[in-house]
Amino acid sequence: MAARAAPAAEPGIVPRHVAIIMDGNGRWAKARFLPRIAGHRQGVEAVRRVSRAARAAGIEVLTLYAFSSENWRRPEEEISDLMGLLRHFLSSELDDLVAEGVRLRVIGDYHRLAPDLVRMIDQAIARTTAHAGPTLVIALNYGSQAEIASAARRLAEQVAAGTLAPADIDEDRFAAALATQDLPPLDLVIRTSGEQRLSNFLLWQAAYAELLFIDTLWPDFDEAALNDALRQYGRRQRRFGGL
Ligand code: FPP
Repeated sequence: MAARAAPAAEPGIVPRHVAIIMDGNGRWAKARFLPRIAGHRQGVEAVRRVSRAARAAGIEVLTLYAFSSENWRRPEEEISDLMGLLRHFLSSELDDLVAEGVRLRVIGDYHRLAPDLVRMIDQAIARTTAHAGPTLVIALNYGSQAEIASAARRLAEQVAAGTLAPADIDEDRFAAALATQDLPPLDLVIRTSGEQRLSNFLLWQAAYAELLFIDTLWPDFDEAALNDALRQYGRRQRRFGGL
């Protein structure tokens, strides 16, 4: 009898919201004596593959860490290459995202990117905003500590204006001031390439998320790797502080 493909995850335990720290593009390129941009290019191919696979698996929200607020420290040429890839991704993928009913969202201070890119992002978000289907969230110029500080500032302003009582600031009120306010709770964070840290990504949101650190470099990540991650998630027992 032919071996049957293992299911993506047990029914009913597919995570609603998965976030990925896409790491290892540079090492993938280095191992092949290629320039770093070649790794990032393959990284974009992985983004296409994995976002489709996530939708096929029934994941409602996929959040991808594409450019952190710390990535500005990279050489100018690499930043420009990454922005070029983002432009290309948006222009080449948007029709497919629209056809598939995907809602595109961006978290992070993306208004600091080049004006033409900001326009492209705004147009892409506007074209997909009414979609009720799965959501692809791209984190751009995103830093979790800045997001948390900004939420605190906004709440403080409301207190100063007399529209909010300090006693009313609880976890729910705080979460509602974050960029992820209307997204389902984060269930699973995957980081590729063997590094084991969160690097200022979704620190508040990851409070009860399962963390999965895998050795595969991001350009090699594919549907099978995602499904394997989902199976590992399915085997974990989430206790949320209880027994
Ligand atoms: C980490 O690899 C990867 C990044 C900083 C950028 C991730 C960007 C992409 C996958 C492409 C653009 C994304 C979209 C959504 C179009 P690294 O360069 O830090 O790798 P290394 O640690 O091996 O050097």
